Amino acid sequence: MTVQTLPLDDAAVARIRSDFAELRAQVNGKPLVYLDSGATSLKPANVLDAERSFAENYTAAVHRGAHTLAAEATELFEQARVRVADFVGAEADEIVWTSNATEAVNLVAYAIGNATAGRGGAASARFRLEAGDEIVVTEAEHHANLIPWQELAARTGAVVRAIPVDEQGMLRPGAAAEIIGERTRIVAFAHASNVTAALAPVDELVRLARAAGALVVLDACQSVPHMPVDFRALDVDFAVFSGHKMLAPTGIGVLYGRRELLNALPPFLTGGSMITTVTLESAEYLPAPQRFEAGTQRISQAIALAAACDYLSIVGLDRIAAHENELAARLVDGLQRIEGVRLLGPTDAAARTGLAAFDLEGVHAHDAGQFLDDRGIAVRVGHHCAQPLHRRFNLTASTRASTYLYNTTSDVDAFLDALADVRSFFGAAS
Ligand SMILES: Cc1ncc(COP(=O)(O)O)c(C=O)c1O
Repeated sequence: MTVQTLPLDDAAVARIRSDFAELRAQVNGKPLVYLDSGATSLKPANVLDAERSFAENYTAAVHRGAHTLAAEATELFEQARVRVADFVGAEADEIVWTSNATEAVNLVAYAIGNATAGRGGAASARFRLEAGDEIVVTEAEHHANLIPWQELAARTGAVVRAIPVDEQGMLRPGAAAEIIGERTRIVAFAHASNVTAALAPVDELVRLARAAGALVVLDACQSVPHMPVDFRALDVDFAVFSGHKMLAPTGIGVLYGRRELLNALPPFLTGGSMITTVTLESAEYLPAPQRFEAGTQRISQAIALAAACDYLSIVGLDRIAAHENELAARLVDGLQRIEGVRLLGPTDAAARTGLAAFDLEGVHAHDAGQFLDDRGIAVRVGHHCAQPLHRRFNLTASTRASTYLYNTTSDVDAFLDALADVRSFFGAAS
């Protein structure tokens, strides 16, 4: 991983922007100001080329064919796994391809449910849940890291408990230690919130989980695309992220798991490509990661994800983080100056990633989004798949601007200028 410390200068951002077709296009007759990368990012030319090149030149199913194209496709597919593993500080056999982060969380939850039902033999005993065991999340989770645990609890008799957050969306001091205890078997939380932009106290949560003998599952959807992340160094057991939020296509996500845990976990989906021996009565499974990759895989998407990792590494994750930090500071400062804006999350830009969600008094988020769209500014509106957190803030929806490596200070200023007009346009200004 390239490590640089200086933020991106204007010339570097201009070079980056030239790699993204949408940033050369017009929306509503205006240059696109894309502030929705927290939902999905734009894709640079090298990623699109990698996907297309595979589809054009290597079409073959991996791992099975006796012919040259199949061997080459397998080689590229497995090289992509090595590349992505390196990107997050893992070994290749600790990386399982999924369709997205949501599927990756479901995979772990269903596999633990299968272990609880007695599948996986003695090796999987460590995953078995008993009635009354606790799965701990936080009040700030994306539904993808909440509902699969609710379903697992419903299937096993376990209980989901949530660590509360304060008015700024930060975990209340001491709250985690009150919730994580001897019945805790799983602690699942987002590295960075997709609403408040707050970074989780990973060290503290891992320490408490370890003391309780619980597994740690990290939702890294909003961190891996934006900053250097090393899962081994963070000492988590499982982690998930999605390719489409980090310059790669949709349809590819990643489950990271410690090798020894993945190999002890029974499979989730079953079928072809994940077995050693099959009889009419039973089957034996391959070691990880193949035991979790049933059926024909998303090959070109995995290869494109590796190309996205190349792109991000060449720019430098440290520099991307520093750049987004500058944009976040401008965004947070500007938002706080606009009358009627209630910023969600910490006001200290250093404690945030590069996105900002907010409520605009007297204006529905959907109206604000429509107004901004008319000016060529793309933002996200709604509950951002975090209804419990919005309820905590007494809101049903918010507006979210999210930045990435290709955004400029002019994007932030264009957004702030347009936003300053929204309330008077809707007659909500005092
Ligand atoms: C924090 C967080 N977790 C999970 C997800 C789910 O990602 P996907 O829809 O790609 O599975 C998202 C996507 O918005 C997210 O922001």
